[in-house]
Amino acid sequence: MAVEKEPTKRATRDYPSHSRTPWTLWEVMYARRSVRRYERGELYPDAAGELEELLSFALETSGASPGSLMAVTDPGGVRELRERCTRGVLNKINRWMVNAPLLGFLAVSCEAEELKRDRPVNLARTVLAAEDAVLWLAERGLGTCWLGAINREEARLSLGLPEGTAVPLLICLGRPRPRAAMSMDNLMYQAVSRRRKPLEAIAFEESMERPYKPPALEGVTCKAAPHQDIMSLLRFIYAGEHPQPDVPLELLIDACLEAARVAPNSSNSQRWRFTVVREEGTLGELHGACRAGRPWRAAIAGSAEAGTMNAVLLDQPFWMVDLPIAFAHMTLMAASLHCLTKLRMDEIDEERINRLLKVPPKMRTAGVLGIF
Ligand SMILES: Cc1cc2nc3c(=O)[nH]c(=O)nc-3n(C[C@H](O)[C@H](O)[C@H](O)COP(=O)(O)O)c2cc1C
Repeated sequence: MAVEKEPTKRATRDYPSHSRTPWTLWEVMYARRSVRRYERGELYPDAAGELEELLSFALETSGASPGSLMAVTDPGGVRELRERCTRGVLNKINRWMVNAPLLGFLAVSCEAEELKRDRPVNLARTVLAAEDAVLWLAERGLGTCWLGAINREEARLSLGLPEGTAVPLLICLGRPRPRAAMSMDNLMYQAVSRRRKPLEAIAFEESMERPYKPPALEGVTCKAAPHQDIMSLLRFIYAGEHPQPDVPLELLIDACLEAARVAPNSSNSQRWRFTVVREEGTLGELHGACRAGRPWRAAIAGSAEAGTMNAVLLDQPFWMVDLPIAFAHMTLMAASLHCLTKLRMDEIDEERINRLLKVPPKMRTAGVLGIF
């Protein structure tokens, strides 16, 4: 049952109990957290090769440029990147990383120009693939932490990337160390990571004037997809087949919103808002504004504040980073119910969408997830 004013990442409801078959993606979604304390260890044999394969498949699935997400797992490269990316005053927030026995990094790269674009969609696509990888790593018991406060130039040089390329984001990875009461990891977890706004505070129906009311779903059940691992879900998304999912729409939408709610986001500001559209007229208009093809049964638009202090200070288009991360969670969640979605981020008429959904002027709409 929905818990009102839930201040933590605890589940809004017992989602797996709504499926007649194991709905195990939730275990990965809730187990993932930003890990800032690692213990020594090694990657399991073949991990680097499997990771490479996952990255290139995730990039292709999200339509990102090949090579825009790369893994660094050789110990020398990891040490150098860790040391160089924390240089500089603004990056002191990541001092916890300086001596951490990290096993690797994922590096998000793009053209330097991309960061100045009004809609950095190429970056967004790479970010989407990167979050798929974060969940894939969580599935393997590995800890990760997205890193926005990094020395971009030092990271670029360490990775041997040419001038004109930027490395706006890294993700570190390693073996998580159990949380100790007095560790920075635990302090950050208690103070920042654990907090989550309830669905009612971040989701809306039809327009941003009507807050979302989690529906009563007693007795509502579905049959989750037989393969729930991230790679199988990505294969399903890539294939783009249109099976007939048996999941009732209200459960599907609620599950997608919950998957977005627990996604990582920069400084956990949760300035993101999700608007569910189901009414025929509004849906038709939204579909048109997205220049979408096949008709949708419903859609979820994701909007966020763009000019936050964090974004200005770190010179990052965080709205076009946080929202794609949430979209990655929603897309996988829909796939876990054997339901296909299509994310529209470019060629959309953002002004028209914002007017339609009554999105406040300081917010930007990063994309619309159409549900088939
Ligand atoms: C784009 C992005 C940048 C982030 N940058 C940092 C960072 O530089 N340092 C850090 O310790 N955590 C960073 N985080 C992690 C967030 O603080 C974390 O995701 C948030 O507090 C929610 O906690 P959770 O990931 O444990 O659910 C970042 C997260 C995102 C999505």
